[in-house]
Amino acid sequence: MNRIYYFTGTGNSLHIAKTIQQSIEDTELISVTDVLSAKDKIVIKGDRVGFIFPVYFARLPVVVQNFMERIDCIQANFTFSIITGGGLFGSLLKELNKILIKKNSQLDAGYLIKMPSNHPKIAHLQKRTNNEILQVASSKMEKIKIVVEHKKPNELVVSPMIIGGLITRFAFKKPYMQSQLGELDKVFSVNESCVNCRKCVAYCPVNNISLDKGHVEWLHQCINCARCYHLCPQSAIQFGSDTMERYLNPIIEIEELS
Ligand SMILES: Cc1cc2nc3c(=O)[nH]c(=O)nc-3n(C[C@H](O)[C@H](O)[C@H](O)COP(=O)(O)O)c2cc1C
Ligand code: SF4
Ligand code: SF4
Repeated sequence: MNRIYYFTGTGNSLHIAKTIQQSIEDTELISVTDVLSAKDKIVIKGDRVGFIFPVYFARLPVVVQNFMERIDCIQANFTFSIITGGGLFGSLLKELNKILIKKNSQLDAGYLIKMPSNHPKIAHLQKRTNNEILQVASSKMEKIKIVVEHKKPNELVVSPMIIGGLITRFAFKKPYMQSQLGELDKVFSVNESCVNCRKCVAYCPVNNISLDKGHVEWLHQCINCARCYHLCPQSAIQFGSDTMERYLNPIIEIEELS
């Protein structure tokens, strides 16, 4: 059995995880948030074991960091990671590898893959259309599938945009600190277009949204996935004064988001 542990907000990382699952038989996809909600020790066993998630603020998302720290042991013949992002990754694969080494494991292969950006503050930096980006990602995935299938080790990639990654870290210092405290949801508000459909409540992966007496509230345990902002059918959720066209990865159905 192969196992892929993933975290996704708007479906890009799940898209990539499903692409691997469809090409390699006997592959189970496991949501990191589901694993974290159980209190047991995390023991990971598999022939191939993968970690697929987005980059946040040129770092590991807090939820992925928590998951990695809770891992008790990893037994795998081939360990890989694929990180999705808008293009500013820094040296994230190396950081992930350092955590795995502390767990007596290490990455055999790791990839950074550019996907449509879902962060309202940086999405406008994207030069190409979402379709163009997804096409390039799809051809990159053809190579990655072969690597994973044949368990070929590779050098860990450091982003060619390492300077951009460092600038992102600096520019996002405050949001990153807030994200560590679960307080990044202070940036959200809801406007009068809300129709109380409860979708934001139902699909928040950490039950961080309540809807009481017709009023949406965030409960400050946010893991920054931006899903509530993107999936509100009325676009009623606002991200400060930043705005972008709402996004969900085109091959993912809302119901697949756990
Ligand atoms: C809170 C947050 C921070 C982000 N920070 C970065 C970043 O530092 N660098 C980058 O390239 N993309 C960044 N992004 C964009 C996402 O990494 C990218 O769109 C990713 O593919 C989303 O994956 P998902 O759909 O699986 O959630 C950020 C997105 C969010 C929501
Ligand atoms: S998803 Fe949008 S419309 Fe539905 S309850 Fe939440 S904010 Fe209101
Ligand atoms: S409140 Fe919104 S951004 Fe925060 S974890 Fe829930 S869905 Fe994600």
